[in-house]
Amino acid sequence: MINISDNRSSHEFLCFAHRGASGHEPENTLLAIEKAISLGAPWIEIDVFSVEDELVVIHDERLEYTTNGSGYVTEKTLAYLRTLDAGKGQRIPLLREVFDLVQHRAGINVELKGAGTNIPAVKLIKDYIRHHGWHYDQVILSSFNHQELARVKHLDPDIRIGALVLGIPRHYAKFAEELQAFSVHAGLAFVNQVFVDDAHRRGLKVFVFTVNFPDDLNRMRAMGVDGVFTNFPELVLSRKF
Ligand code: G3P
Ligand code: MG
Repeated sequence: MINISDNRSSHEFLCFAHRGASGHEPENTLLAIEKAISLGAPWIEIDVFSVEDELVVIHDERLEYTTNGSGYVTEKTLAYLRTLDAGKGQRIPLLREVFDLVQHRAGINVELKGAGTNIPAVKLIKDYIRHHGWHYDQVILSSFNHQELARVKHLDPDIRIGALVLGIPRHYAKFAEELQAFSVHAGLAFVNQVFVDDAHRRGLKVFVFTVNFPDDLNRMRAMGVDGVFTNFPELVLSRKF
């Protein structure tokens, strides 16, 4: 059992299993999530879209990339989506199935991909906090869609949000501070020392995606970032920093 409280230390370098342990198992499946936990990942990152009354866990807006289906995820019925093979016979999971599987063994970073995901995501998180023993510091809602994040914060200011960014904004991490974000999730290709220092000055954590090679990992460590997303959690967890 992973002790989440270990991850609250300000010194700890966090490892987010990106789409689960997607370097080992089909991304965004329960198999990849269980693999990440078995490797000791303290956090799992997954992507969600809203379909009917559920949040479904899949990265692309189209089905062709990871399943045997075709077309846009949000134009399908839930019943159809649940017939598809997301790899190794896995179904496209529902977000609540992920929470039920993880059972507090790791934190969950839910990346809101689709429009209109904010309301169902907040509803689900509040339900798992009220009725299933989860805590606010075990969940982060993130998105490139900062409108969705602002709505999350409006619906429940206690939910931690992570503002995703690819590139270096004109005013560095100011946008994330304005969103009252917990963290800024920055793309590996762009993140630099000035951005990291600016985010830290604003009280934000900096998590970088996607780091799959040791040299990049060392570079991020040297830059003082707070954690990384990786398809190979063992790469991060095997290293003694
Ligand atoms: O949340 C970090 C990372 O997953 C963002 O990019 O495209 O892999 O969802 P993407
Ligand atoms: Mg993602």
